[in-house]
Amino acid sequence: ALAALTTKDLAGEHILITAGPTREELDPVRFISNHSSGKMGYAIAKAARRRGAAVTLVTGPTCLTEPCGVATIQVTSAEEMRQAVMAAFPASTIIIKAAAVADYRPVARAVAKIKKTAGSLSLELEKNPDILFELGKIKADKILIGFAAETGDLLDNAAKKLTVKNVDMIVANDIGAEGAGFNVDTNIVKLLFKDGRVEDVPLMGKQELADVLLDRAVKLKGR
Ligand code: CTP
Ligand code: CA
Repeated sequence: ALAALTTKDLAGEHILITAGPTREELDPVRFISNHSSGKMGYAIAKAARRRGAAVTLVTGPTCLTEPCGVATIQVTSAEEMRQAVMAAFPASTIIIKAAAVADYRPVARAVAKIKKTAGSLSLELEKNPDILFELGKIKADKILIGFAAETGDLLDNAAKKLTVKNVDMIVANDIGAEGAGFNVDTNIVKLLFKDGRVEDVPLMGKQELADVLLDRAVKLKGR
């Protein structure tokens, strides 16, 4: 890790990173979203830049500062994220999808504020596109890294995502565990690879973990 602080070992790579949550609007004042802070994706973007990569960061709404030297594209909804990712995909060599994309969106966005009435309100939701799944179909020799946020059987669920989404590595995140997941500065993950290998990564800061993930990406690239 010390060598990584000084070596431009990602020079020549173009890394596309997604971060943060998406927001799916119901009306002009309300949205559906999740607890993602964006910290993991931003940490990866900063580390990749420091290590010499050209970096594009597609981010949902966060409270974080745009990293210096990183081409940052702000988006709101999953559909906007999908469009920005697809536009940046052809030029990229490594794609790391840390964003917590909302799985569903309201079928319709009300133009006017939804007024409360007597009784309950039901929302009809439809599936958002699975951006990572779409990239898995067209990845060719690009390195594709996905995340898996789980509360149940971490390894089993993450292994399914690795296969179904055709990615090179899954960063499996036990969001129920202490010191892991949303809005904390540390993370504890397992890395799953195509050959069935599982690597346990101990509890560490997200900035340190970013360098570990990029170390693995470098290896996957055969550099
Ligand atoms: N992802 C995506 N587009 C979506 C949903 C997820 O690109 N519409 C990506 C995430 O960025 C992440 C990976 O897929 O890299 C896994 O996300 P996760 O929410 O853990 O898995 P899902 O496939 O959405 O399944 P579920 O939420 O049901 O566990
Ligand atoms: Ca999901």
